[in-house]
Amino acid sequence: MYKIAVIGGDGTGPEVVNEGKKVLEASCKKNGVKIEFTNFDFGGERYLKTGETITESAIEDLKNFDAIYLGAIGHPDVKPGILEQGILLKLRFTLDQYINLRPVKLFENVECPIVDKKPEDVDFVVIRENTGGIYTGHGGVTKKGTQDEIASQLMIYDRKTVDRCLKYAFELKQKRNKLSQKYAEKPIHLVHKRNVLTHCGDLWFRAYEEMGNAQYKDMKRDYQHVDAATMWFVKNPEWFDVIVTENLFGDIITDLGAMIQGGMGVSAGGNINPNGLSMFEPIGGSAPKYKGQNIINPIAAILAGSMMMEVLGETKIAEEIEKSVRDVVKQMKSMSAGKMGMSTTDVGDKVAKLCS
Ligand code: IPM
Ligand code: MN
Repeated sequence: MYKIAVIGGDGTGPEVVNEGKKVLEASCKKNGVKIEFTNFDFGGERYLKTGETITESAIEDLKNFDAIYLGAIGHPDVKPGILEQGILLKLRFTLDQYINLRPVKLFENVECPIVDKKPEDVDFVVIRENTGGIYTGHGGVTKKGTQDEIASQLMIYDRKTVDRCLKYAFELKQKRNKLSQKYAEKPIHLVHKRNVLTHCGDLWFRAYEEMGNAQYKDMKRDYQHVDAATMWFVKNPEWFDVIVTENLFGDIITDLGAMIQGGMGVSAGGNINPNGLSMFEPIGGSAPKYKGQNIINPIAAILAGSMMMEVLGETKIAEEIEKSVRDVVKQMKSMSAGKMGMSTTDVGDKVAKLCS
């Protein structure tokens, strides 16, 4: 029996998560697995009413669950930063979800903005370090509001944080190499900016080299500067299989990754604590202008649900959901909100039916 905490959140978050729940319920039922959802109302609306983002006691409550299923956080009436820091980043940090796993996979019939690229060309995974770097908030501001204002925000990394992320990446790469020759032919990539970030970049690079040489001697290994990586994502996405990178660079390159796999409507992510409580989300944001119209694409949320089952150890359910998604995507006109040729609930119904 899996107990799942659901945070629908803001904008279209609750709508897409509902479709994901529908699919998870259908697939779990078929496979004789019990799953139970409990809703939490954290998000912009609650903040506007109560001034509360997420409380310590709520986080304690969440620890009684097997996973968190998140819709989206972000409200047009709330100043940028409050909900992001107060809910999303707070959960990632407090629950030590140090891996942000973001697959970039182009499905058949999904339009790729890069001419001539096919599903076999766009099939990789970005492992974004999820608890460190610039996101830690070290730094500050002096003389605020004056012409002499100084602001700093530091990129912070310690060896242990780097090592545990690299370990996850190497292990995933090893798994994928065993899965298919196609993956095994490609190297693992570290992405950073070590020509400029000569402290943090150097720490990541040395740790990468050391772990690679010590434990993964036979694995092909490569490194790319982050600016070059964005170029190669577009020019030669087929070069990539597993990419490991620090937090901010990972944030940026996974938006690009989302686009080359067909957009935010199909991009899922997992905030993973390999020894604890993980959280799964569509990475597209709250899209407030589409709220309540039944036109937003729920595929990303459904795929986040599939990833949740995979991480919980229910590989068969995860695979069945992904396969059903692939089939339904073939019937959709587009991956963009309002242009799918069907409604949000239609998409969910169709995937759920194939999973039943
Ligand atoms: C993401 C988002 C978040 C991030 C924001 C909303 C804080 O962009 O999940 O990629 O920067 O990590
Ligand atoms: Mn982002």
